[in-house]
Amino acid sequence: MICLGIESTAHTFGCGIVTDKKEVLANVRDVYTTTKGGIIPAQAAEHHVECFDRVIKEALTKAKLSMKDIDLISFSQAPGIGHTLRIGGLVARSLAVLHKKPLVGVNHCIAHLEIGRMLTPARDPLLLYVSGANTQIIAYDGGKYRVFGETLDGGLGNFLDSFSRELGLGFPGGPKVEALAKGGKQYIELPYVVKGMDASFAGILTNLKQKLESGKYTHEDMCYSLQETVFSMMVEATERAMAHCGKKELLLGGGVACNKRLQEMCRIMCEERGAVSYALPNEFNVDNGAMIAWLGIIMHKAGITTPIEKARIDPYERTDDVVVTWR
Ligand code: ATP
Ligand code: FE2
Repeated sequence: MICLGIESTAHTFGCGIVTDKKEVLANVRDVYTTTKGGIIPAQAAEHHVECFDRVIKEALTKAKLSMKDIDLISFSQAPGIGHTLRIGGLVARSLAVLHKKPLVGVNHCIAHLEIGRMLTPARDPLLLYVSGANTQIIAYDGGKYRVFGETLDGGLGNFLDSFSRELGLGFPGGPKVEALAKGGKQYIELPYVVKGMDASFAGILTNLKQKLESGKYTHEDMCYSLQETVFSMMVEATERAMAHCGKKELLLGGGVACNKRLQEMCRIMCEERGAVSYALPNEFNVDNGAMIAWLGIIMHKAGITTPIEKARIDPYERTDDVVVTWR
């Protein structure tokens, strides 16, 4: 079975083509970027409208396939920015109707976890999902993927992007903060905000802005210190969730999971508790169509098809709204 998956929850329009033998035949993406400020939903949607045709054609060419070879279409149905989800949904429904293919709508956050189970030996991992908009600690328990911890305000990636903007470095900020952090020499004390298995970043951002204005600290030391602080917070909450759920595997997902220091800290924490930490190649950490295609395949094999009239997007669906029947 070959599935074509479409991703459009935020700034990325992606098309992945994956087989039920776990082969990724194509994983093409085009990303809406800005030099100043964050994502403007209508502009991101406009970007997706402009590029979807090219991205899908490029994926088919890479896979050396045409639409007649595709057995299934899947798409990110939830959660995300309504404006952009709508474009992916429209494209997926059109392809399904036009080419008479079955359709499966999937939850984007769960796709991040399932692609990790496909690509690594992890069988029942806890997922630390840290992207721009999302920061969640997710694990399978009692027939659902449950959120054990999450941000109480914005996502970790958005926090890094906001501070990067303060430094005048633009978007996306995560890689820029990571590069500067390597030159840090001195740890600067920052607020540390973990509540149970939840975390909060807004106060840390305010504190950093004040420190920046004071002019007393180097950008390198600030980036180094903020990484050490917020990553420690996430690792602490993750370890607590792993202990609570009795999970022995950790999987990192989302754009911030590309960060080598976060990967290292997770590895150390897991080693110390006899667990294993898995990090994916970057193309599968960031938003991508391959993970949507793979979740489409395993859901469809479990008997799930989304009728066209039920294929409306749901920007606010939560991870634990989805009943998991495929594992
Ligand atoms: P979602 O829709 O799942 O919330 P997203 O739209 O934020 O995802 P992703 O591609 O998963 O998209 O993540 C983008 C985020 O990842 C940005 O905030 C970016 O700064 C951050 N990021 C990317 N690379 C790194 C890195 N090396 N270190 C830290 N953060 C990173
Ligand atoms: Fe994502």
